Amino acid sequence: MTTDEEMELDSLEGVGPVTKQKLHEAGIYSIMDLAARGVGEVADSINGDTAKASELINKARTKLSDLGVLAKDFVSARELFQKRQSIERVSTGSKNLDTLLGGGVETGAVTEFYGEFGSGKSQICHTLAVMVQESKEKGGLSAGALYVDTEGTFRPERIAEIAEARGTDPGKVLDNIIVAKAYNSAHQELIVREVGRQIERTKLKLVVVDSAVAHYRAEFLGRGTLAERQQRLNRFMHMLVRDAEVYGVVVVVTNQVQSSPDFFFGDPTRATGGHVVAHTSTYRLYLRKASKSRIARMVDSPYHPEGEAVFVINSKGVDDPSEDSPRKRSGS
Ligand code: GTP
Ligand code: MG
Repeated sequence: MTTDEEMELDSLEGVGPVTKQKLHEAGIYSIMDLAARGVGEVADSINGDTAKASELINKARTKLSDLGVLAKDFVSARELFQKRQSIERVSTGSKNLDTLLGGGVETGAVTEFYGEFGSGKSQICHTLAVMVQESKEKGGLSAGALYVDTEGTFRPERIAEIAEARGTDPGKVLDNIIVAKAYNSAHQELIVREVGRQIERTKLKLVVVDSAVAHYRAEFLGRGTLAERQQRLNRFMHMLVRDAEVYGVVVVVTNQVQSSPDFFFGDPTRATGGHVVAHTSTYRLYLRKASKSRIARMVDSPYHPEGEAVFVINSKGVDDPSEDSPRKRSGS
């Protein structure tokens, strides 16, 4: 085992208090963080000094290697199997949707819900923020949630309604959701840099970013800076992946796509090789409207069978269609 001190940034030659502070501001807290970053990213945080950034990253990697930490990256398939069995899940509120997800949204992974306006993305996020607080028997992890709201669509009244309809105390449920409103993409990134600290402080198990892309899309619109937008969004998504893996929390992000999807995300149901940005998510679900219900499809998952799930939105948030719905009656 390595000690925390061994992983401290200032245990590296060349990292004084000033550099340490700057790295902290960029969300780099340990040698592991530093070793995992790219030169450009580290250089950005230390006044653009590429040579120094590259030197620091190399030192961090050498140190990890010396400490034997990297050896842990080589694991047997059996270990991987056991690791996957230790994954916990949070119910979405709909059994159908849970089945599609293999039992619910996973800890240690980033799950992306994307679809057009009104397809149910924000409702899924609201419901999950309630469900994660339920006991394990009821599909939760008895833990709180952090809700990053970038579009101003978080509604506490809706949380209270969902909690009440599910027979839990709305006051308690509201107490256990931290809401962070992000005013622009830079602010959104700053918030996510704080996520680790919030997780350690409150032991929360769900991080929601609704929506992950809205600010980037608005700010970089028609500025001919697609590459920069992709780079920023990519970096943002990687921070989330790291948080999911390091802290073993569920991370859920949403993306609005037009029914005729834009060039950025490609065809919603097919992977498009050129568009790497959105593919940082571990799992992607495409949502679409079907009169009063909603249909979800798992896209490109190595772990899930192909298929679709039908769910509805009602006072319980996300729910299964009722047995006597007109849809079923007409079929029998
Ligand atoms: P955008 O954020 O615009 O891209 O849409 P979205 O995918 O986040 O849609 P959202 O989850 O906000 O809404 C999906 C649908 O849920 C709406 O079209 C409504 O039919 C329904 N809905 C939204 N709010 C409520 C509510 O408070 N109660 C009930 N019963 N249904 C709601
Ligand atoms: Mg929404």
